[in-house]
Amino acid sequence: MNTNGSQYYDNQEFFNKYTLKRASNENPNDTIEKPIFMELMGNVSQFNVLDLGCGDGRIGADLINFGCSSYHGIEGSTNMYNLASSNLESFKNVHLVRSTIEDWTFPKGHFDLVISRLVLHYINDIEAIFEKIYHSLTDGGKFIFSIEHPVITSTLQKSGKRTNWIVDNYFIRGIREQLWLGANVCKHHRTIEDYFHHLKSVGFNIESIKESEPKKENFQNEETFKRRLRIPLFLFFSSAK
Ligand SMILES: C[S@@+](CC[C@H](N)C(=O)[O-])C[C@H]1O[C@@H](n2cnc3c(N)ncnc32)[C@H](O)[C@@H]1O
Repeated sequence: MNTNGSQYYDNQEFFNKYTLKRASNENPNDTIEKPIFMELMGNVSQFNVLDLGCGDGRIGADLINFGCSSYHGIEGSTNMYNLASSNLESFKNVHLVRSTIEDWTFPKGHFDLVISRLVLHYINDIEAIFEKIYHSLTDGGKFIFSIEHPVITSTLQKSGKRTNWIVDNYFIRGIREQLWLGANVCKHHRTIEDYFHHLKSVGFNIESIKESEPKKENFQNEETFKRRLRIPLFLFFSSAK
């Protein structure tokens, strides 16, 4: 089974649906994921930043505007890579590479900050990637990532309209198939403990874990905010070398 996460984004229908979903009003990425991510990153001035699975690269524009020295985006999908290239064409010190994360050769001791937003649940051998990230960081460098929360990845369903989010088979790790945006998408389910353990194993000091609690000030619609209080959508780790 091919589980390379970027392949879905090169299916034109999926890509169109995904970009529409990301642009929708009060979407969870903009109301929950991004604000928490920005808070975890803090001051990025003078940082060399690596973004794994950079998607449309728009965070790169923010980071350059906030004073980072360079932004490197790795992206496996040609559609996404082209979008990121066009979004960032007017910015200096931007380096985009079309490659899967698994195939890319990480430089050693180069980055002050490595980020990855909602990508690592597509990766099979997560510890191998954590190890490459660790060695690509400068001493004291940070690695911050978000993923779909394991209570979500545990409940993914192959087909049918979802009627509940009952957590089941939580301790059964591995691939979950999900009918998402018209495609059969494979994601890797791991527990929170697993992520913790893999980070520790390669030498990271874990500094913060967040479970994506929504903040009212990021919502205009009260109903949407209340709905987002029901289940955690995302999980974040911030670690240092
Ligand atoms: C949910 S999108 C998130 C994009 C971006 N990080 C953001 O938050 O806007 C996931 C992205 O990861 C990319 N991706 C998934 N698996 C990948 C892999 N193994 N190597 C490189 N890119 C990958 C996809 O092509 C897609 O652009």
